[in-house]
Amino acid sequence: MPAPSPTRSLDLDGTSVLIFDDSAAACLAAADQIAELVRSTVAQRGKAVLGLATGGTPVPVYKGLVEEHRAGRLSFGEVSTFNLDEYYPMSPLDPQSYRTYMHRHLFSQVDLAPNRAHVPDGTVPESALEAYGASYDRWIEAEGGLDLQLLGLGRNGHIGFNEPADLDTETALKLPTRPVSLHPTTVADAAGDFGGEALVPRRALTMGTASILSARRILVLAFGAKKAEAVAQSLTGPMTAQVPGSLLRSAGDRVTWVLDPEAASQLPGVGG
Ligand code: GLP
Repeated sequence: MPAPSPTRSLDLDGTSVLIFDDSAAACLAAADQIAELVRSTVAQRGKAVLGLATGGTPVPVYKGLVEEHRAGRLSFGEVSTFNLDEYYPMSPLDPQSYRTYMHRHLFSQVDLAPNRAHVPDGTVPESALEAYGASYDRWIEAEGGLDLQLLGLGRNGHIGFNEPADLDTETALKLPTRPVSLHPTTVADAAGDFGGEALVPRRALTMGTASILSARRILVLAFGAKKAEAVAQSLTGPMTAQVPGSLLRSAGDRVTWVLDPEAASQLPGVGG
């Protein structure tokens, strides 16, 4: 079955924005693009390196990739993956860990080598966190950088766990992988997963903007009315550390936004 086509495409200052009928169609199209990128990159240079995201948004994308794999059309045999983030502290075996999420939705379902599936380690001792973050960036570099980074968007505009910050833009574009504190909006949004706000870890490890923005392609997925403001601010507001999604504009035409009509509703010329 051919992948769904967008119902509208916009070019916002060189960034491509694709709007689909609904999130299901958008996720199928995203899975198709990722599968195609893996096939062509492996054909060209013998391997592919993917940056992966968690959250509710990409779950159907992983389902689509697993289906492609089961149908014999996609192998992860030559793929390495680097996830964006992990709560801290967090055991990889904890049901709420992003490692568990990835195991459930992708890693256990495809032929990806366990030693090539990287998720930031939420058990690293406090004193080694900065050094661990720097190593994570070096591992990505040693693999030749990310061929594709898959991203979701927080309600507050965060990417990975790069939260809104009081930083000058130049610094915000070059942040390393590092320990961070979660923004109150992020803690509130995670409350459902943890059985209450009080149980949400207040800290995390996140891939930094430097590695994210160096990816050769970046696919950003955002769905639903609750993301509309962050989407509009990211795409049309000032480029600022206060809206981490806006920093993606520095990656120009390497970025594609994949939206449903609700998430796109506050973009110029789209809302009704
Ligand atoms: C989470 C993750 C992000 C994710 C975002 C949106 O906190 N750290 O990587 O993109 O928030 O989550 P969701 O897709 O569930 O809306």
